[in-house]
Amino acid sequence: MDNLVEKDLKYIWHPCSQMKDYETLPPMIIKRGKGIYLYDIHGKKYMDIISSWWCNLLGHCNEDINNEIKEQLGSLEHVIFANFSHEPAIKLCEELLKILPKGLVKFNFSDNGSASVECALKMSLQYQYQTGNSKKIKFMCLSEGYHGETIGALSVGGLDLYSKIYKPMLMNGIVRIDSPDCYRCPYGKCRDCCSVECFCKVKQAFEEFADETCAIIVEPLLQGSAGMRIYPPTYLKKLREICDQYNVLLIADEIATGFGRTGKMFACDYAEISPDIMCLSKGLTGGYLPMSITVTSQKIFDAFYDDYNKGKAFMHSHTYSGNPLGCAAALAVQKVLREQNILENARETAAYLHEKLSETFENHPNVGEIRHIGLINAIELVKDKKTKESFDPRLRLGYQIYKKALNLGLVLRPLGDVIYFNPQLNITKAEVDEAVRLLIQVL
Ligand SMILES: Cc1ncc(COP(=O)(O)O)c(C=O)c1O
Repeated sequence: MDNLVEKDLKYIWHPCSQMKDYETLPPMIIKRGKGIYLYDIHGKKYMDIISSWWCNLLGHCNEDINNEIKEQLGSLEHVIFANFSHEPAIKLCEELLKILPKGLVKFNFSDNGSASVECALKMSLQYQYQTGNSKKIKFMCLSEGYHGETIGALSVGGLDLYSKIYKPMLMNGIVRIDSPDCYRCPYGKCRDCCSVECFCKVKQAFEEFADETCAIIVEPLLQGSAGMRIYPPTYLKKLREICDQYNVLLIADEIATGFGRTGKMFACDYAEISPDIMCLSKGLTGGYLPMSITVTSQKIFDAFYDDYNKGKAFMHSHTYSGNPLGCAAALAVQKVLREQNILENARETAAYLHEKLSETFENHPNVGEIRHIGLINAIELVKDKKTKESFDPRLRLGYQIYKKALNLGLVLRPLGDVIYFNPQLNITKAEVDEAVRLLIQVL
């Protein structure tokens, strides 16, 4: 069995990895999963407290989802989605309509998060063009944002770690606005007691560039890859208003936040807003199959609807658009969310988890902040609690913690020096206790 590791290293170039690191930390070969646990070929058990890159929503090998996929597999695995359709896709749209913010009624399917962002960007530019605003060709985004790794998505991201080397390939005309930073607030305020003073940066950008801007893309409330940075709903509310004022489309990237991750079905629900376009993926299929949807309004759809020869169609496609197996998984997820009271229970477990982490780690000399929304809890480690000075990134503190945690059977994947929990929504309190117990040992 061990030569699976050798063969893996011989053949596979793993994502987002310095492969040299694998000399000292070879890949764990996972044989099976159940609930929040993964089991490797030697039977070692790992607690997947990060939901396998935030996508596993309802546990590994969830029987309800397995069964629906198996049933679908017996009748149709895939079909071209241009001119053809199928019941699982249609039913899924009907189900999503019931939970999405008002006005989001048209569904464009892709096969991963980045692809749905690309779709949203192209849709925005073409919408503006076809409604008489051909000068609106820029995009706005937040400085610490993350929207995926393809060229358009990287262009509207703000994390150098992923994009710096590719700058010569990235799109021009990006207006990057300083993100809210509630832990190190430049206005000396705190997350719960501010008047979103930082929104002045948005105002400035809109005053200067809105005439040339077709859309702004944001991760609503939670900038995940930036270290689970959380900002207040008022910021989003104001963003909706200013977008309306200047005819700039609001794209909400809910790829990481959607389907209950933040405690509500969508992060936008906290601000009670509807974006013009919403990107969905990850939890959409419970983390089972690669699928994404770019959802938009009737108004945007109508701007593309005309006689073929007018050339207004959205000529955008992916081979696996609307894959029936993905749709079956997504339908099963909706059923489980609805019938098993998942969000309500998750809210209770979230309160329990946060309390537990706070009482255990708040006074740790290197814990700067424990921020949380829904079940997501992030612990930012700092060198100096008072000044909030970070550790030298060359120490790779987060990576050392990652390795130590793995030894103990806990899958963390810190973002820099931010350790976080982003577990499955149906994690139990006993499992929370176990995760916290392991984290105490690690820290
Ligand atoms: C907010 C957000 N947008 C987009 C993406 C990209 O999704 P994918 O990795 O499926 O391309 C991610 C992935 O982590 C994400 O967190």
